[in-house]
Amino acid sequence: MARATFNAMTEGTAEDWRVIAESNMAYTAGLTDRVMDHLRLLDGDFGGFKVDRLTHSLQTATRAYRADRDDAYVACALLHDIGDTLCSFSHPDVGAAIVKPFVDEGYHWMVQQHGVFQGYYFFHHLGFDRNLRDRYEGHPYYDLTAEFCADFDQPSFDPDFPTMKLGEFEPLLRDFFKAPKRSYMAGD
Ligand SMILES: [Fe+2]
Ligand SMILES: [Fe+2]
Repeated sequence: MARATFNAMTEGTAEDWRVIAESNMAYTAGLTDRVMDHLRLLDGDFGGFKVDRLTHSLQTATRAYRADRDDAYVACALLHDIGDTLCSFSHPDVGAAIVKPFVDEGYHWMVQQHGVFQGYYFFHHLGFDRNLRDRYEGHPYYDLTAEFCADFDQPSFDPDFPTMKLGEFEPLLRDFFKAPKRSYMAGD
């Protein structure tokens, strides 16, 4: 397999970067597989809930799918808690970062802020302010995010709900990760 020739980027040439870009295209094609592998890390991790985190994610996505939400919304529902394993104190940031290149601003904001909005349903039980979401009152995506938590996220801890399997979402996920809308290289 071809490799770049430089030891430091200051020595890099256009040919080096052609080689790297080609290699990265093959790597990017495996993104869906890596994301699905990471979702599977949530399997069996109950964290005190009645269902494990993978089931919760699948159930949230199943409800969105059955409510005829568009594919990008369903993908966001499936991935919204994928950060639980690595970022226990800021998990929404991980899901938001993963979906960011592939969604519009609203869905990105929804995934990024879902933790604060989900808190409406439990923060008060832990001695915190359940209305923390009110800091975003009037924000253009407030209703979108409040609805996501009300209709899809907060009810999805039900072991008896007919939840779709991860494999059933695979075609949708492959399609979702096919075409990024933005990239940090373009300053987005
Ligand atoms: Fe969450
Ligand atoms: Fe969740």
